[in-house]
Amino acid sequence: MSHAVNSVSSFSIHITKLKMKNSKPIDYELEKNMEVISQLDGFVANAVDTILVDPDECWQPSDFLPDFSNPEVFEEVKLLQKRAEGIPDTVLTSLIGNMITEEALPSYQTYFNLVEGINEERSLLSPSGWVRWSKAWTAEENRHGDLLNKYLYMTGRVDMKAVEQTIHRLLTNGFDPKSKSDPYQAMVYTSFQERATKVSHVNTGKLADKAGDSVLSRICKTIAGDEARHEKAYKSFMSQIFEIDPNGAILAFEKMMRNQIVMPAVLMGDGGKNPDIYTHFSAVTQKVGIYTGWDYARIIEHLVELWKIDSLTGLNDAASKAQSYLSNLADRYMRLADRMKAPEEIKLAWLK
Ligand SMILES: [Fe+2]
Ligand SMILES: [Fe+2]
Repeated sequence: MSHAVNSVSSFSIHITKLKMKNSKPIDYELEKNMEVISQLDGFVANAVDTILVDPDECWQPSDFLPDFSNPEVFEEVKLLQKRAEGIPDTVLTSLIGNMITEEALPSYQTYFNLVEGINEERSLLSPSGWVRWSKAWTAEENRHGDLLNKYLYMTGRVDMKAVEQTIHRLLTNGFDPKSKSDPYQAMVYTSFQERATKVSHVNTGKLADKAGDSVLSRICKTIAGDEARHEKAYKSFMSQIFEIDPNGAILAFEKMMRNQIVMPAVLMGDGGKNPDIYTHFSAVTQKVGIYTGWDYARIIEHLVELWKIDSLTGLNDAASKAQSYLSNLADRYMRLADRMKAPEEIKLAWLK
């Protein structure tokens, strides 16, 4: 009898030790954020049904591309190449970099599902609004890379092997938005990033138009339209968080901005034969005005206004500090952008 009691108690001591060894200290802030995220599940499910588009009704890449079942298809391709001839090398490099960014989509779906509170069941078949959102959102995104990749291939101006190597490397390297796995920061990041992508595609569309490629211009504007819907949704998720937990929301916004918004394709050259390729790509983008320091500042300005940062009241100490930091931030970046000279020398990439 006493032997049995002893072995039970030593067993329970063993378990307790194991627990102590394995359990991290509880992160109360994260637990609270996850709770708020789970409260938004119905709101997010509604966004899937009202903001995202059913696959049968949505545009698809083939709507914009030559149809290879058409006997005249090579005429169509010739016309496409003729139109694309006038696109400046800088704009083309910039567009290719944007396409590569879109093609790293598997990393974004992985990232989103790793955020705490998003996929607690660890199942892609979960009926939860957040899991449905993560799939339907990335399914829409998948068309962007497909369309741009096929289009650029057909222009005949792109070194496809080099592009494919960059995509391969970027996916191999992954992506770190510096939001840890905090769902609040993830919503700030995606709100910012969808707007940044929209701005890039809109500006590329304008430049394509100017260069005489009306089809490419339409492609860019159509993709930008998708990004605008995604942006609207993510901003609305974050607005909900601001309603429920203004202190937590503003702290997450501050953290994201102090870390700065990392572009999703930043690791495209790491470990490869051209480790600086991302820097070259982003210099070109800056130079031609597709995505600039001013755009970065204007996005901050927009989000600060949208979430009414200046007029939030009843904040705790840390949140009040975050409020004053965020209130001046757009101006600071605007001045920085004014002082920043457009890069003089730029290096093109991925071209034939
Ligand atoms: Fe996209
Ligand atoms: Fe998007």
